Amino acid sequence: MTAPLIDPFARAIDYLRVSVTDRCDFRCVYCMSENMTFLPKKELLTLEELDRMCSTFVGMGVKKLRITGGEPLVRRDIMTFFAGMKRHLDSGALEELTLTTNGSQLERFAGPLAEAGVRRVNISLDTLDEAKFAEITRWGRLPQVLRGIEAAKAAGLRVKINVVALKGFNEDELFDIVDWCAKGDMDLTFIEVMPMGDLGNEDRLDQYWDLNDLRARLAERYTLEHLHERTGGPARYVALQETGQKIGFITPLTHNFCESCNRVRLTCTGELYMCLGQEDMADLRAPLRSSESNEALETAIRNAIARKPKGHDFDYSRQVADGQMSRHMSHTGG
Ligand code: GTP
Ligand code: 5AD
Ligand code: SF4
Repeated sequence: MTAPLIDPFARAIDYLRVSVTDRCDFRCVYCMSENMTFLPKKELLTLEELDRMCSTFVGMGVKKLRITGGEPLVRRDIMTFFAGMKRHLDSGALEELTLTTNGSQLERFAGPLAEAGVRRVNISLDTLDEAKFAEITRWGRLPQVLRGIEAAKAAGLRVKINVVALKGFNEDELFDIVDWCAKGDMDLTFIEVMPMGDLGNEDRLDQYWDLNDLRARLAERYTLEHLHERTGGPARYVALQETGQKIGFITPLTHNFCESCNRVRLTCTGELYMCLGQEDMADLRAPLRSSESNEALETAIRNAIARKPKGHDFDYSRQVADGQMSRHMSHTGG
């Protein structure tokens, strides 16, 4: 292995998030417009290139790979890629191979994912109400996702539910969601809605639900114990004393977590974003394709990490003044 990746602020970068497709079978209102145009498939890194890219990062000290999209499981033959990554788990170079998914394809893929060495999945689910689910995802069907969740559990995968907190939308379901996760032995994380992608006719500011408020409401019913553990990820955790449940909060807008950032993001076209909330990126596809040896790619990766900014730039007032950030979560991979 070569020297580990350390950025200018002495943060060790050992977590790579990889978007394997910008496509999705849902059209969540805070993520995509209904008539999204996707990249031509020939723009995407091939599965072989994705393997080479990820393997190079693993060789440079990346210990955790999270596969995202779009919806990663709609990419054709993606299971070949997962199966290939298993060799890095087997060799001990990689500690965790995981994914963030909308759950729609899990009924089919939970078993093969477990066989490839995946141990847990994060599943996005903002409501337990079928009609509201259809409204927020536009194209999704709740029963299909619920079957996917059951399949994941049956395959022995640990499940974490990601809920985007949306004012006026899932406020009234707070306790139902908490109870449902407790009953199903699933972890739970709430996410503040971020100013990315298209808004269409809706106003994201109207949907913004401050997680301090959500937490205060939880505290009316439960005794919250603040947990100091940080997993290197952006979430802060509390434990509910009454149920023993651990609940995470991802609060990019009210509580910045950049000082402990350990991650970079690779898009499906081979661009490396050093921060979710910044526009700067480095093209890794050209150096990857320039040679069969990985030397040029490794140099490009080191140069990119040397540019990692201190923190993100999310700011509702400025975003609103400037218009939305044009980049979509589905391209960068959440
Ligand atoms: P684990 O801690 O391993 O469970 O993963 P995670 O919470 O980092 O992964 P997940 O894909 O479930 O992330 C949930 C959401 O958190 C993402 O989709 C983003 O919305 C947000 N998020 C994750 N990482 C970052 C980050 O570095 N910056 C910001 N602003 N948001 C992030
Ligand atoms: N703000 C916050 N979370 C978002 N996600 C997608 N778009 C946004 C946004 N604008 C979430 C999804 C999923 C994860 C991959 O990103 O709900 O949990
Ligand atoms: Fe698809 Fe996830 Fe975006 Fe929803 S949030 S449209 S499930 S990529």
